Amino acid sequence: MVYSKRIDGRKFDELREIEAKVGVVKSADGSAMFRIGDTVAIAAVRGPRDLYPKFMQNPKKGILRCNYNMVSFSVDERIRPGPSRRSREISLVTENALLPALNLEEFPNAVVDVFIEIIQADAGTRCAGICAASLALADAGIPMRDMVCAVSVGKVGGKALVDLNKKEEDYEEGSSDMPVAMLPRKNEISLLQLDGDMKPDDIDGCLKLAIKACKKISEIQRNALMGKYQMEKEN
Ligand code: CDP
Repeated sequence: MVYSKRIDGRKFDELREIEAKVGVVKSADGSAMFRIGDTVAIAAVRGPRDLYPKFMQNPKKGILRCNYNMVSFSVDERIRPGPSRRSREISLVTENALLPALNLEEFPNAVVDVFIEIIQADAGTRCAGICAASLALADAGIPMRDMVCAVSVGKVGGKALVDLNKKEEDYEEGSSDMPVAMLPRKNEISLLQLDGDMKPDDIDGCLKLAIKACKKISEIQRNALMGKYQMEKEN
């Protein structure tokens, strides 16, 4: 059966409601919250600081280290605490999605740590994590070539759509999910994964949807950063 109407009534190219805020964790050098529908990510940045053990240091530039974690109460069924294969994979793709936007040459021998905690999960958590992390890095004052925004697109019951929720990801009559991250001003894709099957034409169509959605997300990120700057100026 063709998926003619979305479960939550959204248009096929419509994102869930988004909320973004920077400076949410006082003890961090930079932090952010990014909510898209019922998926909530918090990112905190520590650094740049000297990297130990010393043999891991790169004298030419600083390194980025990301840690993605879903908290145990983020979904109905309790998640076992601690690293998993999935969280290691997501930490790695998050690092790769963020790196092209960063300028770490100014920080030889240093590390920038990004901790991403998924507080609530309703699909699209790696993308929400990347959006939060990018904001937190900017909030920490790390030199950046561009922001990084991310969204998942895909095909549900034969229909291409943006920002799948968990019910759509689990749609019985078929669903494929393609998380995409991009540097919006540079028009560069820094993450492209695919869970499920898609024909090359479908990938093209979904990618167009993702780019359009990412540009909207980047405006929300920009406003969140400007909001903090504005508040600091007024105080
Ligand atoms: O979250 P994302 O879509 O980036 O990654 P996924 O591995 O495709 O997971 C999809 C969704 O499954 C998550 O967003 C959660 O809502 C859910 N999930 C879960 O319920 N329990 C897990 N251990 C992992 C994921």
